[in-house]
Order: sequence, then C-alpha cells, then structure tokens
Amino acid sequence: MNKTVNVGLLGFGTVGTGVVQILRNNAEMLTRKTGAEIRVKKILVRDIHKTRLLATDAELTTDAASILNDTDIDIVVELIGGVEPARSMMLEALSNGKHVVTANKDVIARHGRELFLVAEQNRVNMLFEASVGGGIPIIRPLKRCLAANRITEVMGIVNGTTNYMLDRMTSERLDFATVLAEAQARGYAESDPTADVGGWDAARKIAILASIAFGTRVSLDDVSVEGITRIEPEDIDYGRELNFVIKLLAIAEETDKGVNARVHPAFIPLHHPLAAVRDVFNAIFVRGDAVGDTMFYGRGAGGLPTASAVCADIMEAARNIRVKSNTPILCTCFEEKRISSIAETESPYYIRLLAEDRPGVMAAIAGAFGAQQVSLNSVIQKRRVGNRAEIVLITHKVNDAALQLAIQTLAGLSVVNKVSTVIRVVGDNAD
Ligand code: NAP
Ligand code: HSE
Repeated sequence: MNKTVNVGLLGFGTVGTGVVQILRNNAEMLTRKTGAEIRVKKILVRDIHKTRLLATDAELTTDAASILNDTDIDIVVELIGGVEPARSMMLEALSNGKHVVTANKDVIARHGRELFLVAEQNRVNMLFEASVGGGIPIIRPLKRCLAANRITEVMGIVNGTTNYMLDRMTSERLDFATVLAEAQARGYAESDPTADVGGWDAARKIAILASIAFGTRVSLDDVSVEGITRIEPEDIDYGRELNFVIKLLAIAEETDKGVNARVHPAFIPLHHPLAAVRDVFNAIFVRGDAVGDTMFYGRGAGGLPTASAVCADIMEAARNIRVKSNTPILCTCFEEKRISSIAETESPYYIRLLAEDRPGVMAAIAGAFGAQQVSLNSVIQKRRVGNRAEIVLITHKVNDAALQLAIQTLAGLSVVNKVSTVIRVVGDNAD
C-alpha cells in the first residue's frame, strides 16, 4: 500500500497555486514515481476570504502554528517569500522534524547556513531547487551530476524581468520606463522591481550558485552588484554595430585570487550561447574541468515552471520519507575560501564619452588610459552631439582597479564633458 505523505503549504499565490495544480493533475504519476500519495493537508494564507484561482480540499488557515505543529504534516513547503516570517517558519518546521522545501532565494542567500545546520541536526531535508532559475534544473545538477568536477566558472542570465526588458529595448528600441511597465504587467517583476532592475534578485541567485559550485559560503554581502538602470538606448545601438548584445549577467568564478561573485550588465559577442537567451528566459552556463562547457536553459519565473521544481523537491522528500531514509543531505559548502573583490577581476571594457571636438582631444584621452597601463583595442568617434563628439572606446583586457583609475583621470580632463557609460565585455574571444 502507498504511504500518504502530508504537505503543509505556506502560501497560495502564484507558485503555491502551481504546486497544488501539479500535485492534483499528475497525482497518479507522482505516486507511481515516489510510492507515496502526496496530499496537501493545510495551506497558510494572509486572507482566508480572498478569491482563489484554484479550488482545493486543503484547509486554508491564517494560523502558521497549526501547520508547523501538526504532527501529521511531513513536509512544509514555504512559498510566501521575503525573509521574515519565512525564515522563522522554516526553522520551526525543521526543528519539529519536518522536511522543508522552498523557492525563497532571499532566505537561502542570507540564512542558508543556519537552515542547513538545523536540518542536519534534525536529520531532515532542506531543499531549494526553485530558488534559482525557476523551473530550470540547476541546484541538483551542480550538487550531484557535476559533483566530480572542479567548477571554474558559473555565468548566467538569472533574472527574467531584466532579460525581458533588455531584449525589448534591443529589438523594439523601447525606453526603460516602457519596458519596465510591460514586465510588471506580465507579472515577471518582483513586487518591488528595484530588486530586479537593481540586480539584487540576480545577486541572491549567484550567491547561492557560487556557494554550491565552489563548495564554500558566498553571502549576499560578498556579491558586487550593478543593475541595468544606467543603460541607455545609445549603448544598445553601438553594441549592435560592434556585434555585441547587452545582458545582465551574474558571474561567479574561482581563480588563484579566490572566489568572485558579481552582477553587472555586460556586452557579449553575438555568437556566445548566452546571446541567444531572449525574452523572459534564463540560462546558466557552467564550466567544469572534466565536463567542459554546459548550459541550462528554460523559464526562470512563472507559477507552473517554478512549481515544477518545487514539486520535484517534494517528491524527493516524499521518497526519503517512504524509505525511512533519515540521512541528512549535507551542505556542500564546506570550505572557507578567500572572496576576491571585483577590483581584482579583469575584462575588456566599452566606454562611451562626450568630449570637445577639436585637435589634440584624442591624444589627451589616450594619455589618460596610457597612464594606468590600459591598452585600447579600438577608438571610434561615432557622432556629433551639438558641438561635441561622442566617442566609443573598447579596451583590451584590463584589471578593474586600473580601469576605474583611468576613468577618474578621464573624467577630470577639461576636454571631456561626460563619461556616459562603462560596460564590461564578456566572452572567451572578447579581447
Ligand atoms: P505571491 O504570489 O505573492 O504569493 C505569496 C503567498 O503567500 C500568498 O498566498 C499570500 O497570502 C501568502 N503570504 C504572504 N505573506 C504571508 C504571511 N505573512 N502569512 C501568511 N501568508 C502569507 O508569491 P509567489 O510569486 O508565489 O512567490 C513565492 C516564492 O517563490 C517567493 O519566495 C518567490 O521569490 C519565489 N519565486 C517566485 C517565482 C515567480 O515566478 N513568481 C519564481 C521563482 C521563485 P494571500 O494569498 O492571502 O495574500
Ligand atoms: N523577478 C524574478 C525574475 C522572478 O524576473 O526572474 C524569479 O525569481
């Protein structure tokens, strides 16, 4: 006879509704695969009278304790979002011996260590596949399928909202405010879209991926973050002329200087696999010493795609409950490693500036770069803006600290009116 596994759901919003839908629509198959009947017993919501998109037999409640202390409930699935009360509820569930599944990147990026420790002490699972890349399998592949590799680089488009916005700005030449309004109307953006456009949503995700990929603990404070708010249509147009496309990238790499994690807009060559990732899609490129290059692609947001990953975690916990496996899934972040700063990283740079349009100006600009040993790959005077010249420069690969000093010198030159944009160029053949 199949065992019944009871689930307590915290949250019945976009993702919670998707979870209930999958567990109901695919119930028979899930039972065959896990040997367990997975039943949602109770659901925590803020407002019990709100009209729901889906009918359910589960009991709706506003009392979290009635789920967290229910001895019949085996798995608690946290889908309310934000740090508190989500963190405290998960800690209580783990302490009460319940397996926990979450899609919450905020809590995992900030308090992962604490949660994994309590899960280990209570010999239960703490699973979070949906916290990065929505429906894309990436946590389990990194932890398990690529476990034999020394990972050197993880680079991804992990925020659907900004990818949608940059894609629309590129293909339709729309402005920032218009495409942000579109992304919000389509339900891609977080309730506060500054987390998306400011790069913070991607930063949480890369902190999680870097921790797993490099077997260490990278917290949100270790990630250097720059969003897309300073990108202007001119940069997109110049990028197109140079055979680049602009993306908000989340990058983590391990070099002899340590582990670095960062989020920033970047130009990537059109032939790069990430250049083809359009619309709201996400993709994560992983380089391992044995496997070489791999890429994981799919829908990084949305109710059903995210619920797909949540349900897989529920199934894993259900299987473990059925076979009475109380072996905890150990945290793979076991080593203390040096976190290197973005100032220590290297890449070619694109720089757009406005300068006086007269003889000797180019020489002064080249001198500012030369003084910091920054070598220029190409210098293009693009167009006149009033009585000024707009100049676009591409450097060779350069250390970030030296580039920043060169920009400071440049901004101080009397012939330079404005340094408009500085964007990194990323990709193997970008130099
Ligand atoms: P949502 O649509 O805003 O739903 C949140 C649900 O939680 C609602 O049912 C709400 O109740 C309930 N809730 C919120 N705060 C509560 C509280 N203090 N006490 C009781 N109930 C509370 O959120 P979502 O989009 O489903 O996101 C859920 C989680 O998945 C988040 O961590 C998010 O970052 C993550 N995630 C979402 C997506 C996505 O595409 N949406 C993708 C990847 C990951 P009411 O219904 O009564 O208001
Ligand atoms: N706002 C997020 C995004 C949702 O746009 O990718 C998924 O975390």
